[in-house]
Amino acid sequence: MTFRHRHLLGIEPLHPAEITNVLDLADRYVDLSRAPHKRSDALAGLTQINMFFENSTRTQASFEIAGKRLGADVMNMSMQASSIKKGETLIDTALTLNAMRPDLLVVRHPHSGAVNLLASKVNCAVLNAGDGKHEHPTQALLDALTIRRAKGRLHRLTIAICGDIAHSRVARSNLILLGKMENRVRLVGPPTLMPSQIGEFGVEVYDDMAKGLEGADVVMMLRLQKERMDGGFIPSEREYYHRYGLDSEKLAHAKPDAIVMHPGPMNRGVEIDGTIADDINRSVIQEQVEMGVAVRMAAMDLLARNLRSERDTNTEGTMV
Ligand code: NCD
Repeated sequence: MTFRHRHLLGIEPLHPAEITNVLDLADRYVDLSRAPHKRSDALAGLTQINMFFENSTRTQASFEIAGKRLGADVMNMSMQASSIKKGETLIDTALTLNAMRPDLLVVRHPHSGAVNLLASKVNCAVLNAGDGKHEHPTQALLDALTIRRAKGRLHRLTIAICGDIAHSRVARSNLILLGKMENRVRLVGPPTLMPSQIGEFGVEVYDDMAKGLEGADVVMMLRLQKERMDGGFIPSEREYYHRYGLDSEKLAHAKPDAIVMHPGPMNRGVEIDGTIADDINRSVIQEQVEMGVAVRMAAMDLLARNLRSERDTNTEGTMV
């Protein structure tokens, strides 16, 4: 099973066949996770450190469970209460942790590019758990797995990604992945929340939900990233919900069997109507969470295999 990378920093460097490999392995880890004895020794003897420089509930829990299910020694570092507050630089923190010889480093950071920088300073495998507005590769992979299982395929689907595109690393990683797998991607949202160079990605852009959702197979809603906004991007939450919040009237424009997704955490009544989010016939939000654990197990397993074979042969520079 090929996945020739030392790190998982983004979807950008992945080949479509590698994406398929991660998802195939993740399917097997869904079965393991549903079994009474949820345990493999794929990461036995390895140390996984989760470093979250930004708040996270589900992603951190998901990586922790994934590591434990595969037998790794998992440690969570609360970076909010760490030496960063005492003025230590990111690089010094990385070098200190590196000296403790972890094998897998899972990093979330508020600045785009910070995880790539850190990866260049350590000699373990680094997984990006979200960096600023840049990438969130395991989220895009778990979304892809959820779509593939719900729709039976991951190509030639019409997928509408809606809402705060400009501030969203989830949107960015997803549109790269879904484009690589030859889907039709539409971005729907107010012009103030649309990135300026969006044309480069080969996507269709809409500022009207009815038009953007017309005939869609998948409707992916995004959280309004208020913590990344420094001004008036929307007139008011009420107005935003009226124009862009997913309710049954807007959803009626999508295909009758369209699925509804949201990466969480959700703002009910802002970007999505709570009834739709809870509708088990339409919403796959809980499946996304379940697939998250399986995808992270698969990603860490594949990186650990590379790490082990690299250490065995002791050759350097063969992986990117
Ligand atoms: C996303 C994130 O952190 O980028 N959440 C997540 O990983 N579950 C999306 C968000 O915060 O809105």
